[in-house]
Amino acid sequence: MPQSTDIPGLSVELDDWIRESIRGAAATLPQSGIIEAVNYGRERPGLIPFWVGEGDIPTPPFICDAAIQSLRDGHTFYTYQRGIPALRDAIARYYDRHFSLKLDSGRVIVTSSAMQAMMETMQTVVGAGDEAIVVSPVWPNIYACIHIQQSVARSVALRPDEFGWHLDLDRLLDAVNPKTRAIYINTPGNPTGWVMSRNDMLAVRDIARQHGLWIVADEVYGKFVYDGRHATSFLEIMEADEQLIVTNSFSKNWAMTGWRVGWTVIPKGLGQVYENLVQYNTSGTAEFLQRGCVAAIDHGDNFLAEQVARCSAGRELVCDALLELSNVRIVKPKGAFYLFFRVDGEPDSVNLTKRMIDEANVGLAPGTAFGPGGEGYVRMCFAPSHDTLRTGVERLSEALRKRAAA
Ligand SMILES: Cc1ncc(COP(=O)(O)O)c(C=O)c1O
Repeated sequence: MPQSTDIPGLSVELDDWIRESIRGAAATLPQSGIIEAVNYGRERPGLIPFWVGEGDIPTPPFICDAAIQSLRDGHTFYTYQRGIPALRDAIARYYDRHFSLKLDSGRVIVTSSAMQAMMETMQTVVGAGDEAIVVSPVWPNIYACIHIQQSVARSVALRPDEFGWHLDLDRLLDAVNPKTRAIYINTPGNPTGWVMSRNDMLAVRDIARQHGLWIVADEVYGKFVYDGRHATSFLEIMEADEQLIVTNSFSKNWAMTGWRVGWTVIPKGLGQVYENLVQYNTSGTAEFLQRGCVAAIDHGDNFLAEQVARCSAGRELVCDALLELSNVRIVKPKGAFYLFFRVDGEPDSVNLTKRMIDEANVGLAPGTAFGPGGEGYVRMCFAPSHDTLRTGVERLSEALRKRAAA
């Protein structure tokens, strides 16, 4: 079985008989590398968790009300595999309003989370022995999606300098070989906050065209940019009949992480294949959830703008506080809602996250969880409310100041 060259996470202890009797690709799926820190800190009274990718505001009532009304209206039956037409049309309107993009709703498939969209996308484009290029450090679940397909993830690590993170296009091109089928890119990026430039996107598009590769674009943070209205979407620079699959989610825009609804935009000709995969994975997303999602898109622009504004101010708050520390190295994120930073003299990120639990009672995620390029870094989510950020960052600063003085 092909092994991913660098799949991040913790290997799972299994009884011999189980390891020997199940698929190798399932037995070797790692546990998330964030879990080691979470297990270490989860029971601590008063711990402030910045290790997950969500804020602390619940889904707004107008969205919940639409879902409740749908249940009352008796929408409790099997539904469209591709998503209800009302939601697919609403998603097309979302692209029109926010990205000035005219999108045929026939290209939209509703999925049970962006996670599910990513799994179905990898089921579509890679198989045993194939390779997919992954721009890292990145949301680690993508490695698992590739691995379970018995495919190999080949990481190309971003490089930081004082101005931001950069993709080395020559290194990306070097990673292409005859087995390569896809390039996965998450922009704006988790955990780095990297926002890919339009020029780099054009260059990657050209590489993909030249080598007949799929671009799998994870754009769940597309609205979370701190300079401009939105990040460039691959949908803006590629045609409807090209090898492009874009995945997105309701989770981040409208505080709906627990709903597990996402979507994907595919070339139109792929519709039936993708519908089949939905059929055999989940058989569609519950209609009442989708009705809530229609309300989110149609009436949630102000809420979304407030979310982005809150994260923008949260970014300033945490960066300003941590920049005062002589031992902290920050690349200010341009998008998403994470700060990915280093502390001088602390090369072991798992050890640092454990010590920040002990010394500050704050939960961070270790950079090693995010694949190549992440070692030595820790990730802090700045989506929570400002009061929580303020208290957490004060505690962190005090602990890190003590470390600098020690
Ligand atoms: C880059 C990226 N893609 C996808 C997801 C998953 O989104 P969902 O909640 O819709 O599964 C996340 C969640 O953190 C993410 O960071």
